[in-house]
Amino acid sequence: MTDAQERVRPSGVWATAVGVARVRALETERENALFRDPLAQAFATAGGLWPSSSPLPGDEAARRRRMGVALSIVIRTKFLDDLLQQAAASGVRQVVVLGAGMDSRAFRMDWPEGTRLFEVDTAAPLDFKESVLCRERAVARCERITVAVDLREDWPGALAAAGHDRAAPTVWIAEGLLIYLPEDAVELLLARISAQSAPGSRMGLTLGSRGVIERFGADAVPGSAASMWISEMPDDPVGWLAGHGWEACCHTLRERAAAYGRPISTPPQHEERPGGLISAVRRRSASPFPG
Ligand SMILES: C[S@@+](CC[C@H](N)C(=O)[O-])C[C@H]1O[C@@H](n2cnc3c(N)ncnc32)[C@H](O)[C@@H]1O
Repeated sequence: MTDAQERVRPSGVWATAVGVARVRALETERENALFRDPLAQAFATAGGLWPSSSPLPGDEAARRRRMGVALSIVIRTKFLDDLLQQAAASGVRQVVVLGAGMDSRAFRMDWPEGTRLFEVDTAAPLDFKESVLCRERAVARCERITVAVDLREDWPGALAAAGHDRAAPTVWIAEGLLIYLPEDAVELLLARISAQSAPGSRMGLTLGSRGVIERFGADAVPGSAASMWISEMPDDPVGWLAGHGWEACCHTLRERAAAYGRPISTPPQHEERPGGLISAVRRRSASPFPG
């Protein structure tokens, strides 16, 4: 193990990013993979999650819940890959990945010339990621800029200092992030994203569906991702986003999974409303507040 890995071991909320990488590594091995993430295995290995031979704790119900979470990660990854491609095709050249974790889209996707991709997360996961990227000699396929900041602090200032231009359209991704933030922090985050978004900007969000915390979190293993979930989607995500100046479209996991040829075979056990996967376009100018 290198010095850098000794210093930064996955812990707390950012350890979940390594768990996500493990799921992407497993998907990458499938013949009919919905995406290929060649760096995911290196992240999972460095974080001690690969190879994963020992059975995880829990009964059959816990195993099924974990499989459900893994499928949701695969589907949301494909959903956001497509959204980013559409944004690039529409001419957007700034990408901001909020709570980037081990997201490797800068390395695995094709980007038009002139694309700048900002990865925003706290310092520990970004350091860990850098050590793996160095070892793998990974080369980004666009201009990649990391911004180490806590999203509860003045991240718009840090992003601007790193070169983000709020006068030009941006495509924002918040994948597997909002569920870990309290509701007031989600609200502030969205207001700040909106204030940095020129007309023509786009956004892809994943939201915890209603009731997911009760279903998954109640008997979650302490320290597991589900044990740290704290917020779910609002009752009316389209209205919520419209209030922030976005024209949004909501999709359920089940509907997207079917569209991608991975239908969920179990019948819905709970009322399913749209809203887990959100794409949005900004039509009006950004308000100058909050900064
Ligand atoms: C489940 S991971 C998802 C990572 C990545 N978006 C993906 O889907 O591969 C959640 C990420 O959000 C980041 N995160 C959570 N709270 C944060 C905060 N307050 N500020 C910055 N990053 C945060 C964590 O560090 C972690 O990398």
